Amino acid sequence: MTLANGHRHLAIPGPTNMPDEVLNALHQASVDIYGGRSEIASRACMKDLKKVFRTKGAMYIYAANGHGAWEAALTNTLSKGDKVQVLESGLFPIVWGENADSLGIETEVLAERPGRAVDLDAVTARLAADSAHEFKAILMVQADTATGVVNDVKGVRSALDETGHPAMLMVDTIASLGCMEFDMDGWGVDVTVAGAQKGLMTPPGLSFTAVSAKAKRAHKTAGLVTNYWDWTFRDGKEHYMWYAGTPPVQMVFALRKALEMLLAEGLDNVIHRHAVLAGATRAAVTTWTSKGDTRFAVSEPAERSNSVTCMLMPRGESSRILDYCENNLGVTIGRGIGRLDDRAIRIAHMGHVNAYNQLGTLAAIETAMAALDIEHGPGGAQSAIEYIANHVK
Ligand SMILES: Cc1ncc(COP(=O)(O)O)c(C=O)c1O
Repeated sequence: MTLANGHRHLAIPGPTNMPDEVLNALHQASVDIYGGRSEIASRACMKDLKKVFRTKGAMYIYAANGHGAWEAALTNTLSKGDKVQVLESGLFPIVWGENADSLGIETEVLAERPGRAVDLDAVTARLAADSAHEFKAILMVQADTATGVVNDVKGVRSALDETGHPAMLMVDTIASLGCMEFDMDGWGVDVTVAGAQKGLMTPPGLSFTAVSAKAKRAHKTAGLVTNYWDWTFRDGKEHYMWYAGTPPVQMVFALRKALEMLLAEGLDNVIHRHAVLAGATRAAVTTWTSKGDTRFAVSEPAERSNSVTCMLMPRGESSRILDYCENNLGVTIGRGIGRLDDRAIRIAHMGHVNAYNQLGTLAAIETAMAALDIEHGPGGAQSAIEYIANHVK
């Protein structure tokens, strides 16, 4: 007996659900890539992406996943033997750092406080101690998708400014752009990395680097530049050059539609929608974790991301809940990854998601915990209902 048949919902933290309008935009015949509609779409995407990143800097679109944009950020600005500081918080900064290691960049990891955001005092102290200015860049994520922690990008900028440190600030917004406030120019970010498949509601396979004037200067002397990622080549006149090869035209059409939809909703409204859905999710998790062996992965409420919430539980229980939700209730929710493999559930509230979707996801989790006799504080779904009722009048 299953109740899963019907319209299924995907509540994993990327790739996320896509609007039908975006899927339909993909369904188009190929067109000339040397101008015309494809070039118009690329220009529109560049312009709209700059609004979403809040930058007047340069924008590059890669036919690659987020790992590609990570590599683009590093190879375009650094040389073999350069040193960078990696601000650990969850999983993804570490993996970005490993990418840097593989390129011959020396990495120093500022170890995380488990379950917490990056410690700004520790960042300031380490930068102050680097009087020789060995660090050429700082690598950080705004939101980590494995733990649901959110970091204070503005705070790291202040640490650089207070210590007079010239390192570039590179920020991975793959799990936050289009979900949470981000202000590249206002916060003094030098390279922003993002992907299409989460807040931007587009299929996986496109990623972006947005680049400040300072990073562009570093690019002039960078020793790791390769043809494919090269910003200079991509600054070329012809549309073909913007992608260093055939533009992924259908993906660009899809991205264009998604950006139009985000801007039509209004970025402030998009961010507010995510904040309320995240608040409702946290209200549910707070109730569930009041009893039993479950807890938030991020201990400080102010450091919990508005794009994904991670709940920790004894090994094995998360899989039982997630399998039950998928097989019996028709909703697929995120599994633990990295160190939290088989120990967490990651509830996405990211991208093309509304209150009805989120309440359904939360009610499904609670149904699973009840059916499987997993101890929890009852009434989490009701807490989410009350949260939304109080915030949307
Ligand atoms: C914060 C963050 N950074 C980087 C990545 C890697 O992106 P991709 O899997 O598209 O290469 C992910 C993927 O989930 C992510 O969540």
